[in-house]
Amino acid sequence: MTAAPVTVSTLRKMKTSSEKIAVLTAYDATFAHVLDDAGVEVILVGDSLGMVVQGRESTVSVSMDDMVYHTRAVAQGRKNSLLMADMPFMSYATVEDGLHNAARLMQEGGAHMVKLEGNANQVEIVARLTANGVPVCAHLGLRPQFVHKIGGYRVQGRDEQSARGLMSDAVALEAAGADLLLLECVPQNLAADITQRVSIPVIGIGAGVHCDGQVLVLHDLLGVTPGQRPRFSKDFLADGGSVYQAVVEYVQAVKEGTFPGPDHSFN
Ligand code: KIV
Repeated sequence: MTAAPVTVSTLRKMKTSSEKIAVLTAYDATFAHVLDDAGVEVILVGDSLGMVVQGRESTVSVSMDDMVYHTRAVAQGRKNSLLMADMPFMSYATVEDGLHNAARLMQEGGAHMVKLEGNANQVEIVARLTANGVPVCAHLGLRPQFVHKIGGYRVQGRDEQSARGLMSDAVALEAAGADLLLLECVPQNLAADITQRVSIPVIGIGAGVHCDGQVLVLHDLLGVTPGQRPRFSKDFLADGGSVYQAVVEYVQAVKEGTFPGPDHSFN
């Protein structure tokens, strides 16, 4: 990996030079250290910790204190990877709350960027955060914090109207100052169109191989998530070796464009 710390401008340059960005979640210092060593450019302290660490049914129960605690732990283990932390459910329902809680993630947790699940409704908070020096990743498509509103986890943007909506949300969020987009569970052709249309990097999960980078939940990559593995994930530890080697293979597969394959993508 690049010996220098990864910054927002590193990620922009990677998009320009068509070098794929490898992103992975971590929730503690030890795994953050492994990911950083293995060349992961961005470590995400995802609110998926509600499910894979706390054993809850969804991410909705995760609190700001939980996020600050795990972000601070990950910050101790990373060296060069950029540290992105999730804004949990309802922590940005008002602009004031969003500003206050993003400041906590950066000042108490040591995050370099925050991620929020947003569409055009979050344009104002994205604009205010970025105007105040907070880099933002906007998470579009399947937004797990909305699980109770949408009634389950399903692919988004399959019909023409919602595909158009996703495209215009992406454009609006870039115009508001977002530094990164994350697309979860959207058809691969739509993800490819959005990636081409915006000039900020687009990270995919269940969004096909044409995004500028990929993200997975660490527990899925290691094959230890209880229950059925999400279709878009892959167990990189299955072929043996070590946790470190599994992460190295993931980074390599992302860079070479061999992950995700058609079996991990939606049409
Ligand atoms: O919370 C998380 O880990 C995420 C990833 C699934 C992208 O948002």
